[in-house]
Amino acid sequence: MEAEAIDLALAWHGRLMVLAWAILIPLGVIAARFFKIVPWQQFPQELDNQSWWHAHLFLQYAATLATIGGVYLIVNAPADALRSSVLHRVFGWITVALCGLQILGAWLRGSKGGPTDRRANGSVFGHHYHMTRKRRVFEAVHKSLGYLLIMLASATVLHGLAIALAPRWMAMIVVAWWSVLVVAFVLLQRRGYCVDTYVAIWGHAPEAAEGLEVDRE
Ligand code: HEM
Ligand code: HEM
Repeated sequence: MEAEAIDLALAWHGRLMVLAWAILIPLGVIAARFFKIVPWQQFPQELDNQSWWHAHLFLQYAATLATIGGVYLIVNAPADALRSSVLHRVFGWITVALCGLQILGAWLRGSKGGPTDRRANGSVFGHHYHMTRKRRVFEAVHKSLGYLLIMLASATVLHGLAIALAPRWMAMIVVAWWSVLVVAFVLLQRRGYCVDTYVAIWGHAPEAAEGLEVDRE
């Protein structure tokens, strides 16, 4: 196998993983955490703006596809492209497995419900609208696992760049970008952009909340 082909498999593995885990996934999480109500929205008259939802879905699925592509490239790379790093392999496969779990968990999160998503018989019941145990477990697991996954993936990205002997400026750019994201995260949090999903969809005092134990952040 020519050196060029070896370099290409490794370089594209790295590029796709950086794209997925340093750019797309963090942006998708910021959209989900801070833009459930968008700045141009007349809240609370106007509820359930789904921009965050479409952005989160698009970005997380695009990142998952990039991850699958990156794994495919490195698994099929010629032996000379590899670096015998057990640590990176372990971190890498755990990241891939947790990414799959996040998606599986999201698929199993149950129904939405509420006045805009009635069942065929007209009932407003929904796992989210009634904050069932299933929905609470989903929110707790999806959030904790999501942030844990980002931390693990960040370490994997930096370690990958190191074992691939990538030029130092690449890691510096990635770290600078993450610093921008962390500052943005802190500022958005302090300025009150983090609104509970329930409130963003159904407002501050939805009928379903009456007599129901609804968790708020
Ligand atoms: C690897 C892929 C994913 C990661 C890392 C991820 C991560 C996250 C994180 C960290 C949050 C919480 C944001 C906050 O602090 O409020 C979140 C929220 C959410 N995500 Fe994902 N997500 C992924 C994929 C998905 C997919 C595929 C779906 C749906 C099919 C989904 C549905 C949701 C929902 C509904 C929320 C809002 C939860 C709530 O009400 O608090 N996520 N995601
Ligand atoms: C979160 C991001 C990343 C994930 C999930 C990931 C995942 C993986 C996985 C699963 C493998 C093992 C393939 C096998 O078992 O044959 C692997 C190998 C490898 N990855 Fe990554 N990777 C990531 C980031 C990077 C980056 C940014 C680079 C830099 C170019 C990189 C370089 C490598 C190298 C050199 C190998 C071969 C390691 C060896 O010889 O043992 N990875 N990666």
